[in-house]
Amino acid sequence: MNSTPEGVAPAADMANDFAAVSDVFSGTTNDPYPLYREMREKNPVMEGDILAFFGVPSQADYANKGRQVFTTFRYEDCMAILKDPGTFSSGLLMEGLGAFLEDAMLTALDGEKHRVLRNVLQGAFTPRNLKNWHENMIRPVVVDEFIKPLLSQKKCDLVNDFALHFPVRVIYEMMGFPNDKASIEQFAGWALRILAGPQKDPVKAEQSMRAAFQAAQDLYDHVRPIVAARRAAGGGNQSDLIGYLLNADAQGADLDDHKITNIIRMLLPAAAETTTRSFSNMMVLLLDRPELLAQIREDRSLVPKAINESLRYEPVSAFLARQAEKDVEIGGVQIPKGAAISLANGSANRDETVFANGDEFDIFRPVKPILSFGFGAHTCLGLTIGKMEMESALNAVLDHMPNLRYDPDYPKAEILGVMMRGPRNLHVVFD
Ligand code: HEM
Repeated sequence: MNSTPEGVAPAADMANDFAAVSDVFSGTTNDPYPLYREMREKNPVMEGDILAFFGVPSQADYANKGRQVFTTFRYEDCMAILKDPGTFSSGLLMEGLGAFLEDAMLTALDGEKHRVLRNVLQGAFTPRNLKNWHENMIRPVVVDEFIKPLLSQKKCDLVNDFALHFPVRVIYEMMGFPNDKASIEQFAGWALRILAGPQKDPVKAEQSMRAAFQAAQDLYDHVRPIVAARRAAGGGNQSDLIGYLLNADAQGADLDDHKITNIIRMLLPAAAETTTRSFSNMMVLLLDRPELLAQIREDRSLVPKAINESLRYEPVSAFLARQAEKDVEIGGVQIPKGAAISLANGSANRDETVFANGDEFDIFRPVKPILSFGFGAHTCLGLTIGKMEMESALNAVLDHMPNLRYDPDYPKAEILGVMMRGPRNLHVVFD
């Protein structure tokens, strides 16, 4: 594809769609952590949805059915739920993003259906493919296509000039899309519009849900011909995801063009924005601590520690949702069959019983499992890729932007919102 697809708005819209997602999930506070701390102590399994309290749409009741919802704040309870998908199912997620993404929405599938689709996809993420993507695609794309063009001005907005774009380019390359910036950014804008569909305000929701359905359809209509063209050309390069899925079909996995299109379409909202925000949050946490940033610049063995700790401290997916398949007790509270649970990952990740001084950012703390990529059966399939992207991006910034610091001409960046937290801008200067 060499031109912007028909009916496509200019690529600059991606930034607007990104801002719209931030707006939807911003809620009534920019610092929910003191309340989480209090809830862990006083009411760790709360009846009600804390996201409703914050005015943020919740996957626990996206369709506003008035379903009974509980919120869990402690690590132990969140982990116990994620480790028991038989008792705590994910099917309710179909009411949210699943409504747009249909039956390929992996996070919303349970049991055998989930296992079969996950196994198909997992086969693409072999250590060999991951290593190959990291060395031959992620690193060069990040450095050559995104960092180098920013260097001459000695200043940039690390969110809007960099972090918003490189994960989109990486994931589309990994999938095997033609490298056409306008189309890729439009597809990414549509993927963001799907995420911005659910809203608390019913008037806004009517409009945004319509836009989300349209975006899902537009994505489908533009991805499917790409899949069909690849099939017609014999599948092509198997080391990309479309090629891998076409090959899996040839080996008997029963994946027609419709199914492959739906799988690819499901991955787009999952893969890009999460990385954008995770990287941006890490940069704010490090720029707030210039001595630590200098230390990491000198000793790159600290890069993985900085990544892990920033993911713990500021998880982008700050809440997950599950539904009780039977009457069950959590932390001494009875949860009736059918009730939903909002799992406060952002709280669990700072639970002092597991992470000493959990509200402190400390890259030297002992590594323990965190909930930022979920846990158990639905653990993020792109965990390693997300981390590889963060690693490549942090090293690229450290290698090419000496003396990186906040731009004094702008207000200091802040991590905002309740869910999908992140800075809106990140203006920096360098020597
Ligand atoms: C730092 C970046 C990322 C973060 C923070 C993140 C976070 C998450 C979380 C929290 C879940 C669990 C959802 C649940 O249990 O309900 C998840 C699932 C998933 N993620 Fe990611 N993700 C990231 C990057 C990626 C990338 C790059 C890809 C694709 C290459 C990806 C693909 C998926 C898929 C397919 C699932 C569904 C797994 C399943 O249900 O079995 N993610 N992610």
